Amino acid sequence: MGNVAVLASGNGSNFEAIVEGLANTPHRVCLLVGDRRNAAVFDRAKRLSIPAYHVSYHNRERYEAETDIARLIDEKQPDLVALAGFMRILSASFVDRFAHKIVNIHPTLLPEHPGAHGLKECYRSGSERIGITVHFVDHGVDTGPIIRQESLVRSPDESFESVERRIHALEHRVYPAVIRDLLASTATDPA
Ligand code: GRF
Repeated sequence: MGNVAVLASGNGSNFEAIVEGLANTPHRVCLLVGDRRNAAVFDRAKRLSIPAYHVSYHNRERYEAETDIARLIDEKQPDLVALAGFMRILSASFVDRFAHKIVNIHPTLLPEHPGAHGLKECYRSGSERIGITVHFVDHGVDTGPIIRQESLVRSPDESFESVERRIHALEHRVYPAVIRDLLASTATDPA
C-alpha cells in the first residue's frame, strides 16, 4: 500500500476527491497540510478523519514554514506529496528534498496558461480546447514534467462558471486516478 500527503490552501474539493478515490484501494491519504487556518479543506479533513495540520507562512520566512511542512511529511514518510490548490510556491530546496515525489494539478493544458490565474486566462483567450494537467513539480511554476492531460471542448457561448464546473469535475476524476497509478507503481509493500 502507498500513502500520499496532500498540501492545500482553500476549498479542498480535489483533496476530498483524492480521499474518496483511494477509498477502495490499499492506498491512503496520510496527511493534510494547509497554510490557511480557516480554509474549507480543514472541515473536509475533519469529516473524512484525515490528520490535518495548519502551517502558517504569516510573518516568517518561507524556509521556516517549509521546515515545518517537511517535518510533518517526514513523520509520515509518504510515497507521494500531492499539491491540491496549494497557493504557495515551493522553494527549490524543498522540491529537491522530495525529488520526483511532488505532483500538482493545474486547470489548463500546460504549458498554456500557467500560474494562479490560469483558468481565467484560458477562458479569456477564447480557445476552444480546454483541459487539465497533472505534472511533477520542478523548480519552476507549473513547468514540471507532464504526467497526464485531458481536454474538453468548450462551446462558444459557455459561461466561465460552466467551464469551471466542468474543469473541476474533470480534475476530480483524473487526479485521484493518476495518484492511484503512481502509488501502485512507487509504493513499497512492507515485507
Ligand atoms: C484546482 O482548480 C486546481 O487545479 C488548482 O487549484 C484549484 C483547487 O481547487 N491548482 P480545490 O481547492 O481542490 O477545490
